[in-house]
Amino acid sequence: MSARSALDALPAFHTQIAQWYAKCGRVELPWRNLARDGSQSYEVYISEIMLQQTQVSRVLEEFYFPFLRAFPSLRALADSSEQEVLRLWQGLGYYTRARNLRKCAQICVQKHGGMLPRGVEKLKSLPGIGDYSAGAISCFGFGESVGFVDSNIKRVFSRLFALPNPTHSQLQSLATKLLDTNDSFSYNQALLDIGALVCRARALCLVCPIREFCKGSNAPHRYPQKITRVREDLVLHLFVIVFCQSHKDFIALIAPQRDLSHNHSQLYAGLYNLPMLPTPLPSMSKSFTHIGRFKHAYTKYNITAEVLCTRCADRQAALNLIDSLPFDKHENLTFVRLDSLPTLPLSNLSHKALKLLP
Ligand code: ADE
Repeated sequence: MSARSALDALPAFHTQIAQWYAKCGRVELPWRNLARDGSQSYEVYISEIMLQQTQVSRVLEEFYFPFLRAFPSLRALADSSEQEVLRLWQGLGYYTRARNLRKCAQICVQKHGGMLPRGVEKLKSLPGIGDYSAGAISCFGFGESVGFVDSNIKRVFSRLFALPNPTHSQLQSLATKLLDTNDSFSYNQALLDIGALVCRARALCLVCPIREFCKGSNAPHRYPQKITRVREDLVLHLFVIVFCQSHKDFIALIAPQRDLSHNHSQLYAGLYNLPMLPTPLPSMSKSFTHIGRFKHAYTKYNITAEVLCTRCADRQAALNLIDSLPFDKHENLTFVRLDSLPTLPLSNLSHKALKLLP
């Protein structure tokens, strides 16, 4: 027998979700316990941007509080340097999000009195805020009754209505029609939780509070249809060039370019990186020791990183070595004290490579 549609039984659908959320929902999450009158929309905004593409546990344990401590308001964020923001974002990935946060803060200071504006359309006009974030900030930060769709909610709706390839507008329309306007805050948070905890890639239909409405529960893996992303294989050789001065170790790094137009097309724009080359010269095997290899997935690439290390007698020897190597001369080479690395926005790729240092 086919399940009854949630659209035809909204009160029962809402009751099931509300009861489940009260019992099993992650109601204690800090960004779920803020004012809903707009006065704490900044904290909601930061949480929602961080939570795109990143698991709740990582945001909660590593990123949310340190970021808010460093930038407690939109004004503080607007006054920051891109470097400071990237440093606190380091490890979260998708660094455009961090750059957009700062740009957005600057616009809010210039145009909206240092506050996020109210309303989905105004929010969407800001950098880095799309349909999902605008809906989530409006609902969770301003207490507005709006429905929205992220990847978790997409999975829930696709299964609920057995839609293998729903369009964004189909999903948005469902979000609006299904919304529980009596408590849209808890309803939307609950949907996010059902998506993350129950209706996961490997669905746990037996414990799902809305299974009686679900048309896809006989074959949840079919909904939504998976798009297999093809990543290009890329081999990179990363060079760890170390020298000692006054009993401190220094390493060569490529600093982020100030001229962003030059830099944005490159891997890891805005972050410090080890010098790297796709293929080393045969002569390099004389000066460098191979200290390890690791795999790293980054945007469109499956990177195999080969890590090579050398210790030079002093700064001049390191400079001479670097001069003899075919690095891009546009790149900003700099020497950084090894013990000051934690204060720099360093790419994850370089972080992993430096862990191999003997
Ligand atoms: N993912 C996106 N937004 C979220 C939220 N408010 N709580 C938990 N997970 C989320």
